[in-house]
Amino acid sequence: MPNSDLAIVVLAAGKGTRLKSGLAKVLHRAGGRTLVEHVVRACRALAAKKTCVVVGYQADDVASAVSTLDVETVLQNPQRGTGHAMLVARRAIGKVKLALVLPGDAPLIHTETLKALVQAHRAGNAAATLLTAVLDNPSGYGRVLRKSATTVAAIVEETQLTDEQRTINEINSSIYCFTLEKLWPALGRVRPDNKHRELYLTDAIAHMVANGDTALAQIATDAQEILGCNTRADLAEVDRIFRERKRAALMNAGVTIQLPETVLIDPDVAVGEDTVIEPCVQLLGKTKTGARCTIRTGSVLSDATLGDNVIIEPHCVVASSRLDNDVIIGPFARLRPENHLKPGVRIGNFVELKKSVVGEGTKAMHLTYLGDARIGAKANIGAGTITCNYDGFHKYPTTIGDRVFIGSDTALVAPVRVGDGAYVGAGSTVTENVPPDALAVARGRQVNKPGWAAKNRRELSAAENPQSHAHKRKTKPRRSRKSRRR
Ligand code: UD1
Ligand code: CA
Repeated sequence: MPNSDLAIVVLAAGKGTRLKSGLAKVLHRAGGRTLVEHVVRACRALAAKKTCVVVGYQADDVASAVSTLDVETVLQNPQRGTGHAMLVARRAIGKVKLALVLPGDAPLIHTETLKALVQAHRAGNAAATLLTAVLDNPSGYGRVLRKSATTVAAIVEETQLTDEQRTINEINSSIYCFTLEKLWPALGRVRPDNKHRELYLTDAIAHMVANGDTALAQIATDAQEILGCNTRADLAEVDRIFRERKRAALMNAGVTIQLPETVLIDPDVAVGEDTVIEPCVQLLGKTKTGARCTIRTGSVLSDATLGDNVIIEPHCVVASSRLDNDVIIGPFARLRPENHLKPGVRIGNFVELKKSVVGEGTKAMHLTYLGDARIGAKANIGAGTITCNYDGFHKYPTTIGDRVFIGSDTALVAPVRVGDGAYVGAGSTVTENVPPDALAVARGRQVNKPGWAAKNRRELSAAENPQSHAHKRKTKPRRSRKSRRR
């Protein structure tokens, strides 16, 4: 059934007082996305005529969280309740037959459940169809007063429950389908006669029923789906469920995940077949791995692109970088944004890279910083090599050719080039370009003074302990500097 007569309305104007947060509730994140984004995404496959998001508290930020999702935002300011939010959205909703209304804070809802709700509403010729759930602990939710096995008499909010009604365990999910020509007049009769002086959308149900119209209830088969995020504990639980869903999807697609409950994977991450993910790994953003990769324990990858057979040894941090086939990095490597490691590159422990291109088969195995560097193929970057790429004002490039050998503890003061096949002696501070196939040595020349150390040792020891040395000496020992000062 096409839904060209349907508008979707997401209510996202509230503050969310129970979270005790400076951030609007619907902007909190679970499963790698804001709550409101999850809700809007769940509705997309319904192909409704339009989607309206009602914003109010932190309106601009909420609007920008959904700005790429093809929605119209409606400003509700001040926020006078869920019924008021619908009235404010009335013009934007326009002249469609039906509205599917959802709260912005119930992100676990499945598209299939929403489709079934709209379907049931159409089939039942109802004025309203509610998605409800039966909960062991219904406290905090509005309760559903039944008229019959299929129909509803009213919804009573938690604060207005009688003691008898408090035992009802069927709750209102805040997800409804309305026939709008029945909703608008009923909403017109709703009064703010409650503690918060708000217009409750839930009160419209009783008015519809009083008018002789039918309100139906669909009980959600999976009560988890309608979980709202009213508290931090709710948020943690919703996040856990999203993460579990994502891991299950990847495992079904041929990915091995060890101790899965310790692994955190964002929704847009793609992982190739036969990749192994060890415990306590985080794969974030748009990270994508090829086949047969190994992501070892404690590593955090965000917006990384990995080819096939890549090995990330334990405790690496990789941001926005591309690693081609057969690259091995770590343990303890840090790739800051915009690196490209070509096939077979090896990056070892305590090596940091930023905005660098590393050619095929090149190695930088220990204690190195490479920033704004272009390095050719089959080069060897010695332990402790540093590109000095920043003078406090500007960044400068370092270019290292193919098959270059950079000796340990070399400082490359950028901008500087080392030509193909060149050698740089260990401990050099390179400030000038090195021609291809040359050897550059840029350090103080070594001086050896024969016997100096032994003589120095003898003198110092004698000064510390004159008695034991007296019989060996004809002359009185010279006083050391230290004892002269005393
Ligand atoms: C609401 C329902 C309750 C239901 C519960 C399910 C009402 C009166 N109560 O209660 O029956 O069991 O959801 O989670 O509707 N909002 C606006 N504008 C406003 C007020 C709220 O857009 O003026 C939005 C909020 O941002 C939120 C949604 O509406 O996304 C629901 O509001 P909330 O305050 O969370 O309602 P509950 O008290 O949970
Ligand atoms: Ca040094």
